[in-house]
Amino acid sequence: MAPMTRSFSPEGVPGADVAAYYRRRAAAQVGLILSEGTVIDRPAAKNDPKVPFFHGEAALDGWRRVIDEVHAAGGRMGPQIWHVGTVANPQTTWVPPAPAEGPSGLLAPDTPRGVAMTDEAITDTIAAFASAAAEAKRLGFDTLELHGAHGYLIDQFFWEGTNKRSDRFGGATLQERSRFAAEVVKSVRAAVGPDFPILLRVSQWKQQDFKVRLAPTPAAMTDWLLPLVEAGVDVLHCSQRRFWEPEFPEIDGENGLNFAGWAKKLTGAATISVGSVGLSGDLFDTFGGKSSQPASLAKLVERMERDEFDLIAVGRALLGDPDWVSKVRAGETASLREFSAAALGELV
Ligand SMILES: Cc1cc2nc3c(=O)[nH]c(=O)nc-3n(C[C@H](O)[C@H](O)[C@H](O)COP(=O)(O)O)c2cc1C
Repeated sequence: MAPMTRSFSPEGVPGADVAAYYRRRAAAQVGLILSEGTVIDRPAAKNDPKVPFFHGEAALDGWRRVIDEVHAAGGRMGPQIWHVGTVANPQTTWVPPAPAEGPSGLLAPDTPRGVAMTDEAITDTIAAFASAAAEAKRLGFDTLELHGAHGYLIDQFFWEGTNKRSDRFGGATLQERSRFAAEVVKSVRAAVGPDFPILLRVSQWKQQDFKVRLAPTPAAMTDWLLPLVEAGVDVLHCSQRRFWEPEFPEIDGENGLNFAGWAKKLTGAATISVGSVGLSGDLFDTFGGKSSQPASLAKLVERMERDEFDLIAVGRALLGDPDWVSKVRAGETASLREFSAAALGELV
């Protein structure tokens, strides 16, 4: 199950309804659940009051209930550890108790928002990622995922459009701008030890600009991702809107490897792919209010059978229907449902 923000945790504390939501997926044969983004202990780590914290006794008690229920139902799960950086949330008037923070106080190129992080802020943020990771392990989660995608904090360091720093966390190359993420990964690895799997989610696209590609070539992708694998990432979760789209068609054609396929080939790490599995429309159709219909899995099966990537994440299909995996396994395709934006308003 792909990580999906649901904003059903008042005061940042996930309750019994959130635990039941994840338990239902575990009971219906979802192999691995990644939680909604849940934020580290920084004052402006979130931009929505109902996004869960991953720190503090009340929120962590809530998460303990989540993982205990998921385990009791036979599932496995990791929290997605998040800091939103300078991204605003137009859906709420709530403001965090401190200004938004990012590498250079930019939301996008030429779009100032929030403050540029000081050395001290960066050090504290890296430590906060590590302590969230230690809590994930202590509570009994099976893994954790660092959210390094979609234009949020870690991705704002990767992107030259939002990282204008002249210190060791900035630079002209992607490898230099990956240093912040690498330091986060190293401190997380030190916090959880050698045997706890660390996932890192990355994307070429940014919510600020869907057309951005951090790595326009395989060489650039290697410079970006290999240091992160060397720093301690076990699994790269390569976010795409449509899993069947080739990453570098100019090299291996229209049916060539997707992002997760290239990331696996270039780094040797295990990878997860994602994007419109089982649905006719993509994520942005949903946010634009369009419904998506159940769609064939044939192209997915073909890619999985050629071992292009190791795991596939399913987002909206599972958000709308807790039994999606069981139905697919049993071949009950006639009972698969359409997905509409209305599903986002409730926790079923
Ligand atoms: C309501 C909603 C919330 C999401 N929240 C997150 C999130 O917190 N973290 C994240 O990495 N991706 C998030 N995503 C992206 C999904 O993880 C997934 O990559 C995307 O929906 C594409 O998969 P799908 O086509 O199977 O839905 C969200 C998507 C949706 C629909």
